[in-house]
Amino acid sequence: MQDVVQWLKDHGNLKIINEPLDVELEIPHIAYVEVKTDNSRPILFSNPINKKKNIQYDMPVLMNIFANKELTEKIFDKHPDDVAQGIDKLLKIKPPEGFLEKLKMLPDLIALKNVFPKRSKKRGTCQEIIIPKSEVDLDKLPILKTWEGDGGAFITMGQVYTQSLDGSMQNLGMYRLQQYDKNHLGMHWQIHKDASHFFDQYQKAGKKMPVTVAIGGDPLYIWCGQAPMPHGMFEMLLYGFVRGKNAQLVKSISNDIQIPNDVDIVIEGFVDPENLKIEGPFGDHTGYYTLEEPYPVLEVETITMKEKPVFQATVVGKPPLEDKYMGWATERIFLPMLKPMAPDLLDYYMPENGVFHNLILGKMKTLYKGHAQQFMHAFWGVGQMSFVKHAIFVNEDAPKLDDDLAITEYILNRLDPKKILITQGIIDALDHTANETLVGGKLGIDATANEVADAIKTPLSDESLLERMKEVDGNILECRQYFSHTKNPICLITVHKVQSMQNMIAKLRVLKEHIKVLIIVDKINNDINEPYMLIWRVVNNIDAQRDIVLEPFIAVDGTNKSTVDGFNRTWPGDTFCTKEVLDSLQERKLIDIDEAFIKKFGLLPFN
Ligand SMILES: Cc1cc2nc3c(=O)[nH]c(=O)nc-3n(C[C@H](O)[C@H](O)[C@H](O)COP(=O)(O)O)c2cc1C
Repeated sequence: MQDVVQWLKDHGNLKIINEPLDVELEIPHIAYVEVKTDNSRPILFSNPINKKKNIQYDMPVLMNIFANKELTEKIFDKHPDDVAQGIDKLLKIKPPEGFLEKLKMLPDLIALKNVFPKRSKKRGTCQEIIIPKSEVDLDKLPILKTWEGDGGAFITMGQVYTQSLDGSMQNLGMYRLQQYDKNHLGMHWQIHKDASHFFDQYQKAGKKMPVTVAIGGDPLYIWCGQAPMPHGMFEMLLYGFVRGKNAQLVKSISNDIQIPNDVDIVIEGFVDPENLKIEGPFGDHTGYYTLEEPYPVLEVETITMKEKPVFQATVVGKPPLEDKYMGWATERIFLPMLKPMAPDLLDYYMPENGVFHNLILGKMKTLYKGHAQQFMHAFWGVGQMSFVKHAIFVNEDAPKLDDDLAITEYILNRLDPKKILITQGIIDALDHTANETLVGGKLGIDATANEVADAIKTPLSDESLLERMKEVDGNILECRQYFSHTKNPICLITVHKVQSMQNMIAKLRVLKEHIKVLIIVDKINNDINEPYMLIWRVVNNIDAQRDIVLEPFIAVDGTNKSTVDGFNRTWPGDTFCTKEVLDSLQERKLIDIDEAFIKKFGLLPFN
């Protein structure tokens, strides 16, 4: 894929917007809205500007490259399941017995020669233009400010190439980069990630760490950058395997780090381990802001480019977004890599509104008592799977995992408080709910057994239940029951929160004849009739150890937390669009959305 824009014109139904548009909010808002529409398209913004800084950029911004499943599959040039099959085959490879078996293995072995990157000594296409340190100016790049509350502009599709102190390991990670000024970037590699491990080595040795950030080129590079490869394995091996072609690498100009020949823009520099700076806030892929925290800083040495570079970027925020499609490919491709530690795992699914680590469903061939628990511990103990907060396991007779209604019904019919494991473990650095950072509650539901015997003793209509609830607590505002036909209907209520929900749950015990599963959310910014965003909210907002009660019914407190809950960190806000920007884009016919769309995806705050 030499020219991504041409390729997207030919294969991706690329939308081109020539109108001058601001990199602050306007461009990101258009991309954000587009990827939430049915059949969303990639967009080329050919005329980016920055009104505040009075800049007209001389390169376009390309967004939503992974705009839908079909396009994602085209980028891979095969279905992700086919890539998974290839990996599965490789993992099961055995020494051949006899000449015929050797012969049969030959094509697989020949294909493996594509895996290893090729290193060229020549200058790369990405080095057609070389900007020396004295002329470096990050303001020449159309770096986006996505959300009003962001701490500045961020490179959101940066391929961050790093290497270990001894140079034996190289890594590619997709981490956001905050622009501080003309030649400094904030390096948001979280503590669990490979580049952060390398950084520790440089810090201990008291040496500056070389880093090269690439933007653009084959979109598969960026997918590889976010793929949860085991530590020590260079992501370019995965690239070669998927593409069926060796990655072509060239050396950075000012350090030894190898980067793909065909990327569009390359930012090289050094991180001084002594120099940390506040990074953020940033409206993140959880749909919440991540708060300000100190991170290392890259001082830029050199910028190189193709003669006609294209600036690739993405928007993160509330689902569904582009990472839905990247994540879908990752989920499919990594299934065979989970099987060595969980051999009876048949499939797994990370629903997009669970923003990946907040909810995972696993289907398994259950062989013995405690088997599902064994899987929970396995998942919570391995690589980035250990960030998963809520894991539900079902048996092999369950419906397809992405058949949302059927699988929910199956789970609710098997939901048994005695089969719920609540424990503690490592959590994603982005998680905002635990009382302390990095460690928090884990919920595992074993729904592999037969249906439970008991249903609700005395079902009530939504209206009667709400009336009875209001008698108990006047701050309960709405009630809607979902899946009433199952053994464990879900009773969802919205509240005006003035105290800890644990007190309210305790008072609601008197209604235990009428409730099996109670879920509580704030009235503000939650629509009781929108299960997609309600699931997003609840799995995002809970720490299982603090917020789930199992007796006399299952109660889940999905409200925002504060000191009334014993929560002393800052509770971040949702990522909301800026109303004036949406209105102006709508007026100029650059987006076409209505109130229902805005409410459905939580684009703006509501009561
Ligand atoms: C759109 C997007 C943005 C991301 N931003 C970050 C980030 O800023 N920091 C981070 O540590 N991980 C981020 N990630 C996740 C990492 O890319 C992912 O965990 C990857 O596997 C890390 O690679 P590593 O294990 O080689 O460090 C992001 C992922 C996506 C899809």
